[in-house]
Amino acid sequence: MSHQSTYNPGTGIEKWLDKRLPIIRLGHDSFIDFPTPKNLNYWWTFGGILTVCLVIQIITGVILAMHYTPHEDYAFASVEHIMRDVNYGWLMRYVHLNGAALFFFAVYLHMFRGIYYGSYKEPREVLWMLGVVIFILMMATAFMGYVLPWGQMSYWAATVITNLFSAIPWVGEPIKTLLIGGFSVDNPTLNRFFSLHYLLPFAIFGVVVLHVWALHVPGNNNPTGVEVKDVKKDTVPFHPYYTTKDGFAIVVFLTLFAAFVFFNPNGMGHPDNYIPANPLVTPPSIVPEWYFLPFYAILRAITFDVLFIPAKLGGVIAMFASILVLFLLPWLDTSKVRSMRYRPVARGWFFLFVIACIALGWLGGKPAEGAYVLAAQIATAYYFGYFLIIMPLLGVLEKPKPLPKSIAESVLKKDAPAAASAGDAQPVPAE
Ligand code: HEM
Repeated sequence: MSHQSTYNPGTGIEKWLDKRLPIIRLGHDSFIDFPTPKNLNYWWTFGGILTVCLVIQIITGVILAMHYTPHEDYAFASVEHIMRDVNYGWLMRYVHLNGAALFFFAVYLHMFRGIYYGSYKEPREVLWMLGVVIFILMMATAFMGYVLPWGQMSYWAATVITNLFSAIPWVGEPIKTLLIGGFSVDNPTLNRFFSLHYLLPFAIFGVVVLHVWALHVPGNNNPTGVEVKDVKKDTVPFHPYYTTKDGFAIVVFLTLFAAFVFFNPNGMGHPDNYIPANPLVTPPSIVPEWYFLPFYAILRAITFDVLFIPAKLGGVIAMFASILVLFLLPWLDTSKVRSMRYRPVARGWFFLFVIACIALGWLGGKPAEGAYVLAAQIATAYYFGYFLIIMPLLGVLEKPKPLPKSIAESVLKKDAPAAASAGDAQPVPAE
């Protein structure tokens, strides 16, 4: 939220720098004195958690790259070398591996939070769309990273996924050839994936800077979805209130992270990726990492031709559409009220949506046959139905509960029957 700067350069050097490059002022006004709604709950700590995840991935990734060899004859062995010979190489690799999975776990919660509280609504559309760009870049990065150990799953996942592009009429084959650097997944594929896997996280970092910039212009949304009316009454400075809250959440998150790294480091991975890549042996089942499974289920749910669109192309279109539809959310949701705290009907449909996403994740890991396919088709229909039909209609048909007049009012629970009945506004002592 644009506000008057309160930064006072203390020392001579600070004054000197402030006249030339007011970077300390920027940091102070954005992360120390930034007026933040006083009612943010723990769902608002995931942005900070995600920033920590990104930094951890970049640091461990750069160290891994010092010992990794992007060549089909050496890649697998170089990963084993990291695990066995490099000092703390096993730790770097396990942190990077589990870090990627927990990064997705955190980003999914961050996105569901955004949908529940209507954080994508005017004036935060650009903030949301930059988030979707980050999500797409994260998926591309994770996919290419998974290919690098050059195990059986790396090789076959790369083959299956790049093959999808060949379903696109006319340009599909050339795109696929360009992507993998030849006619099948091979050394050139590994080389270009390594190059891009190293590059993309820095692109993500750049988009995160824009994302946080776009957040700081309108300021945070909050659980009531009511905008800040009185900066004095409705907000607190970011530091120490939210540095402490975010810090606590980050410690809890890192504890979970450590539990995976030290007690079950391969729990989320597929054992076949400890078998070196073999183009002559197809594994019995090719499954992506868990965080791709919902989209994989949507891809495989389209088992029928639609008019002139063959099933394979239909699946590819559905999969890409399931991600791209997120860009349209700010306009598909027609409700004037942001937060689902005051939209009991929308809340029910939203929880069904969450269940559909989890079901798709589960079904993505099952064989594409019989009842699993039917279930995936139903969940896919709900996924699109939720965004394209239910959201636009509910905004018009639903009568929301009355909103509190201000954030302060909802926090103090004074004359705030709506917030009180929602049951999640925390009382604080009156000032
Ligand atoms: C590397 C990944 C990401 C990072 C580091 C990141 C960082 C942040 C941070 C620090 C905040 C402010 C604190 C908070 O609200 O939690 C935030 C807010 C937000 N982010 Fe992200 N984000 C990421 C990905 C995404 C994605 C994928 C989306 C959606 C597709 C998204 C949508 C939003 C929205 C809508 C807000 C505003 C929340 C509000 O004020 O209610 N972000 N993000």
